[in-house]
Amino acid sequence: MKALILSGGKGTRLRPLTYTGAKQLVPVANKPILWYGIEGIVAAGITDIGIIISPETGEEVQAKTGNGDRFGANITYILQEQPAGLAHAVKIAQPFLGDSPFIMYLGDNLIQSDLNLFCDKFKTELLDALILLRPVSNPSAFGVATVDSKGKVLQLVEKPQNPPSNLALVGIYFFSSKIHEAIASIQPSARGELEITDAIQQLINGKTHVEACQLEGWWLDTGKKDDLLEANRIILDTRVTTAIYGEIDTGSQVIGRVQIGKGSKIINSTIRGPVAIGDNCHIENCFIGPYSSIANQTMLIEADLEHSVILQGAKIDSIHQRIVDSVIGQRAHLTAAPRRPKALRFMIGDDCQIELA
Ligand code: TTP
Repeated sequence: MKALILSGGKGTRLRPLTYTGAKQLVPVANKPILWYGIEGIVAAGITDIGIIISPETGEEVQAKTGNGDRFGANITYILQEQPAGLAHAVKIAQPFLGDSPFIMYLGDNLIQSDLNLFCDKFKTELLDALILLRPVSNPSAFGVATVDSKGKVLQLVEKPQNPPSNLALVGIYFFSSKIHEAIASIQPSARGELEITDAIQQLINGKTHVEACQLEGWWLDTGKKDDLLEANRIILDTRVTTAIYGEIDTGSQVIGRVQIGKGSKIINSTIRGPVAIGDNCHIENCFIGPYSSIANQTMLIEADLEHSVILQGAKIDSIHQRIVDSVIGQRAHLTAAPRRPKALRFMIGDDCQIELA
């Protein structure tokens, strides 16, 4: 069995971060989202992994993730010139996939469950497709399935205006090689993409073995800011254990589960976990509250922060209000105004959201 991870796409919902970087590399608890998917796939015993990349962010994904050695896998990168849809990604990956059954994993999805159970079901029942479903409150934002009382899949529709059920398709699919014929027989949808839902519908119409499982535990599509923060909260809560490599001075207090990377200095500050701080950070006169992830080489001076993700090289200096629910991009600077500012001075990129609460 092989795996195909989709790490191309436009990432419009995570702008402005995606103007300069791949959304799949945005860190959750200081590890790129994409890597959680790779680790889950390897844990299920699949080590032959293809990763779809885009011309804009492919180099960065490839440079950071490497050839797979660090995961015990063998990674092949496959360039998709245009984000022409999930089924299009499978189409261009056909030379890599050959006749092998495979798991298709959307590179910005995170799930709590192991993949083993689903892999076993897919293999032992000799299925042509196994899809994972999850009830959601806003099905119009997803591919939606209708299933009968025995759980057999009857119909799939992509982002319907009038959803026929509340069962959304999770971004993890298992396919036999029959999916390639199905993809060859579909046309681009109204939004111009080759839709994987249309290809699976072809399999259903052709009376092949298509089954669905309901996913237990949490599932996050980190393509939006709030889901990204939620993923960060959950991962810090469930997977972070204390590991301190940096220096903490005597005026500082570290409480709860906290990671502090090599070369980082904590001066006269309180860190209340769960918190992950990367390497070579400078944190001085700060309160870093629960559910914060601070990437490498950030500088925080007189800052008060919680439930936020700070990306590499960012600098926050003398902001006296608490910063909450925030994502601060790479190398962004946030600096103080005088106590009673007469004016605020900004240099803000396209699509930024600033809330002076
Ligand atoms: P989406 O999140 O559906 O699409 P997107 O990345 O273009 O984002 P947005 O809707 O915010 O503009 O894609 C799911 C995953 O699949 C994501 O990791 C990107 C990847 N993808 C590809 O690799 N190729 C594609 O053609 C598409 C559409 C997505």
